[in-house]
Amino acid sequence: TAAVAASIALGASALSANAACDEGEIVIKFSHVTNTDRHPKGIAASLLEQRVNDEMNGTACMEVFPNSTLYDDNKVLEALLQGDVQLAAPSLSKFEAFTKKFRLFDLPFMFESIDAVNAFQASDAGQALKDSMTRRGLQGLAFWHNGMKQMSANVPLIAPTDANGLRFRVQSSDVLVAQMEAIGGSPQKMAFSEVYGALQQKVVDGQENTWSNIYGKKFFEVQDGITETNHGILDYLVVASTEWLDSLEPDVRDQFLTILSEVTETRNAESYDVNQKARQAIIDAGGEIRELTDEQRAAWVETMKPVWDKFSDDVGQENIDAAQAIND
Ligand code: LMR
Repeated sequence: TAAVAASIALGASALSANAACDEGEIVIKFSHVTNTDRHPKGIAASLLEQRVNDEMNGTACMEVFPNSTLYDDNKVLEALLQGDVQLAAPSLSKFEAFTKKFRLFDLPFMFESIDAVNAFQASDAGQALKDSMTRRGLQGLAFWHNGMKQMSANVPLIAPTDANGLRFRVQSSDVLVAQMEAIGGSPQKMAFSEVYGALQQKVVDGQENTWSNIYGKKFFEVQDGITETNHGILDYLVVASTEWLDSLEPDVRDQFLTILSEVTETRNAESYDVNQKARQAIIDAGGEIRELTDEQRAAWVETMKPVWDKFSDDVGQENIDAAQAIND
């Protein structure tokens, strides 16, 4: 009958969408937005996929959808809550609708290296942030590193005043909007998947990102050059819905979380090198990288740092103090 035919068709399409998954396995769909090679998140996601599929075979099955093929970051958290995907790892800048506490990580010159970020996240204050959205149905599972952000534009950026009047793409974060306004730029929030086209079409003049993102999405090809400002950090939270986590048998959940934490430790230790290799790959591909003298960099610090005042209530002075103590 028609109903039987429809259910068979549905079964067949569900099967082909999860070709690697066997019947009865828990399907863990992981949607993210970056490339997979030479990228801290891309490599970590692939390793997680491989380990889950090897070690949890018969129980669970993971499918990674990179490069925004399934969802942009502005949709993926809703998709998690709907149960359309089970895992995501958006940058900390993308959680504004759920918590303002992550604004700490976007404040320019708050952390002086990814090691400092790592140490802060490992502290009690950092670990508590993983639980800051449980009321909204999201549970942070692990922080994954990318790295320090650099500035690029279609004109050379040496002094912050060079950014005057330029349009900059920013992630969906009000801190990053304020930061670009502080240098006289005109910020525009935009999905990661649209940045290359927007730079190429001159919808925006510039952007900020890590070496691995600038290389992975070829932004350097449509920019005058990249200025090594190391002015901020880009980091991720691996996140799931509390509902999905609660639905797992305790031993299954434990095994999955153990694999995740091992992958986190292994790949976070490599994130700096992955970015440095992407930096070199940009040079090898003919991209222009501009280094700043200490004095030139100090001008960026002086121009951007006042942004902290605007957001200190959101992030908590105690968190700012803790982050600064780690830098020292
Ligand atoms: C961006 O939107 O620039 C980044 O958050 C992309 C990413 O996931 O690294």
